[in-house]
Amino acid sequence: MSRITAFGTYVPEKIIDNHYFEQFIDTNDEWIESRTGIKTRRFAKDGEYASDLSVKAVENLMANSGADVSDVDFIVVCTTSPDQPMPNTASRVQYKLGIKNAGCNDIYAACAGFVYGIQMAHGFVNSGVYKKVLVIGSEALSKIMDLKDRTSCILFGDGAGAVLIEPSEDEHFMAFNSGTNGDFGHDLYLSHKKNSINGVGINPNGKIIQNGRSVFKWAVGNIPIKIKELVEKAGMTLDDLDYIVPHSANLRIIEAIAKNLDYPMSKIPQSVTDFGNTSSASIPLAIAKSVANGGIKKGDIVLMIGFGGGLTFAGTIVKW
Ligand code: COA
Repeated sequence: MSRITAFGTYVPEKIIDNHYFEQFIDTNDEWIESRTGIKTRRFAKDGEYASDLSVKAVENLMANSGADVSDVDFIVVCTTSPDQPMPNTASRVQYKLGIKNAGCNDIYAACAGFVYGIQMAHGFVNSGVYKKVLVIGSEALSKIMDLKDRTSCILFGDGAGAVLIEPSEDEHFMAFNSGTNGDFGHDLYLSHKKNSINGVGINPNGKIIQNGRSVFKWAVGNIPIKIKELVEKAGMTLDDLDYIVPHSANLRIIEAIAKNLDYPMSKIPQSVTDFGNTSSASIPLAIAKSVANGGIKKGDIVLMIGFGGGLTFAGTIVKW
C-alpha cells in the first residue's frame, strides 16, 4: 500500500502576459483570454531546462515537508520538453540533487504524463520493487513552441511539480484508469523527423503543432466519461470526491467538463489562468494553488485526470 508523502512545485520567475504575443503575431489579449482563460504564463530563462525546474520543485517539496530525498530509489520525470532526448531528464535531476542510488526514467506522455508517473510509482511501491519514488512533472515548453504559430504558442507555459510516493499502512490510491486514441496522433505532435502519423505527412520543425479544434472536441467528449468510469471503478459517486483536478489545458475545456458532470467549478482547481497549459506540470500547479488558498487539505479525496498528445489520458483517485 502506498501514499503521497510530500509535495512541491515551482514556476520560473519570468511572467509573460498576453500582450507579449501582440509584438510578433496577429492576436490580442481579449482573444486569448476569451478562448482559453489564460491571463499569464511563465517562461524559463535561457539555459533553464526541465531538469532545473524539476530540481526547484523538489527543493520546494523538501521545504514544505522536511522530507529527505537522498535515499530515493527511483526518479520518474514526466515531460514532453526534456532537456534533450538522451540522457533522460530524470538522470539530470539525480545528478543535480546528488541522489546516490536511484533508477531514472522519463515518461513521455504529454499532458497525461504526471498521472502516468503516479501510476508507475504506485506499481513500483506496492509491488515492493522500489520503496521511495520521486515523481516529477516538469515542462520547459517555451523552448519547443512555435512563436510564429498563433493557434498554439499562446497556450503554453513552463513549470514543475513533484510528489514523493512511499509505502503506507493504508492504501491512499483508490482507482486508476488510462486509455489512448492513437488515431488522433496527428492532431497534436512534435517532430524533428520527416515522417507521417496515421498516413498524414507531418511538419518536422521540432515544435508543437496541433489541431486545436479536434483536441478540444476529443477532450470535452471523452474526459467526462472517463471521470465517471474512474469514480465507478473506485465504488464511489461524484459526491464522494472533494475535488476534481483535470489537466489545465484550457478554461473552456474545464468548464465544459464541469457542465457535463454537473459538478461545481469551485471544486475544480485549475492552473491555466495564471500559468497557461503547462502539460505534465498543470495538475500539481493547480493543486498547489488550491492548497495555498485553503482548498485541498490532508485527507481530501482528489480525482486527477491528465489528457493530451497521443491522444492519451490517465486518471487516479487519491486520498491527499
Ligand atoms: N489570436 C487571434 N485569432 C486567432 C488566434 C489567436 N491567437 N488563433 C487562431 N485565431 C483565429 C483563427 O485563425 C480563426 O480565424 P478564421 O475564422 O478567420 O479562420 C479563428 O481564430 C477561430 O479559430 P479556431 O481554431 O476555430 O479557434 P477555436 O475557438 O477553436 O480556439 C483554441 C482555438 C486553440 C484556443 C482551441 O481550439 C483550443 O483551446 N483547443 C484545445 C487546445 C488544447 O487545450 N490543447 C492541449 C490539450 S492537452
